[in-house]
Amino acid sequence: MPDFHLNMGSYPETRLRRTRRNDWSRRLMQENRLSVNDLIWPLFVCEGANIREPISSLPGVERLGISQIVEAVGEAVELGIPAVAIFPATPPDKKTPECEEAINAKNLICRAVRAVKKAHGDRIGVICDVALDPYSSHGQDGLVREGYVVNDETVAMLCRQAIVQAEAGCDIIAPSDMMDGRVGAIRRALDVAGYLDIQIMAYAAKYASAFYGPFRDAVGSAANLGAGDKRTYQMDVANSDEALREVALDISEGADSVMVKPGMPYLDIVRRVKDSFGVPTFAYQVSGEYAMLCAAAERGWLDREKVMLESLLAFKRAGADGILTYFARDTAKLLSQA
Ligand code: PBG
Repeated sequence: MPDFHLNMGSYPETRLRRTRRNDWSRRLMQENRLSVNDLIWPLFVCEGANIREPISSLPGVERLGISQIVEAVGEAVELGIPAVAIFPATPPDKKTPECEEAINAKNLICRAVRAVKKAHGDRIGVICDVALDPYSSHGQDGLVREGYVVNDETVAMLCRQAIVQAEAGCDIIAPSDMMDGRVGAIRRALDVAGYLDIQIMAYAAKYASAFYGPFRDAVGSAANLGAGDKRTYQMDVANSDEALREVALDISEGADSVMVKPGMPYLDIVRRVKDSFGVPTFAYQVSGEYAMLCAAAERGWLDREKVMLESLLAFKRAGADGILTYFARDTAKLLSQA
């Protein structure tokens, strides 16, 4: 006969392990879930027919020629991924200080978007960045005057860039430049041009982070930027209240959704943004985060599939409605087998 009286004080009244004991119960109690509908897949397009160029700092990610991009987007459609974000690796000879190629309606990204939309129509959303760094010979996201990235002149260029991308068929314009007032200006430019239904996903809280390195290799802007940095427009990594001001401004200027970037080290910001505004909130698991996990997995130090799923579920737990991630295709495949 157990001595209930003696043990009463020391036994826990609440046993949280009870609900964790069996798989059925763990599934039942689960608060957050990762679904294919949460994924946005970033892709890099380059010039040339039949091209697949590996990117050494982004294992498993390639720069693709336009027909390969169309194929990759077809794969995304099949997997049920709701949207892709396409970034151009502009040929170096097209990069200039004034970034004229950004507003060329026949530039690489516009041709890629046209091809993708022609092949896949509304079965998938296409997101394009608005920022000048893929086109600038100095690697900055804006126009440079006397060593400084100027705001208003840059915004005027960004509006023209948004229009050529809208004409090409892009569904969501994603300003990633961090100039002040660009969301409002782009919204007005799109509306005046008749693109009332093209969404704006604002890179609202985008930090001057060291985690973008492999992306800059992918689009070939790392060498152009050299020892330069983007701290006069991207946010100080030390700040959190300021992120809320950025998000508030972008919403008031007409952003349909907002983004926090980078991702994993900034989940506190994702949570604050989601709690404060309750708007569609996205997070970008950026190139350096992906590279970091892949590097550890390659060495056998981490289990690739497990950390991939855990890291993405953590975004959901933090309040993100969706995640831009280079793991999107692998995750979608894995989820479809589950
Ligand atoms: C361009 C842009 C960058 C990223 C997305 N859009 C790089 C930067 O701001 O320097 C980074 C994405 C990644 O690292 O995966 N403005």
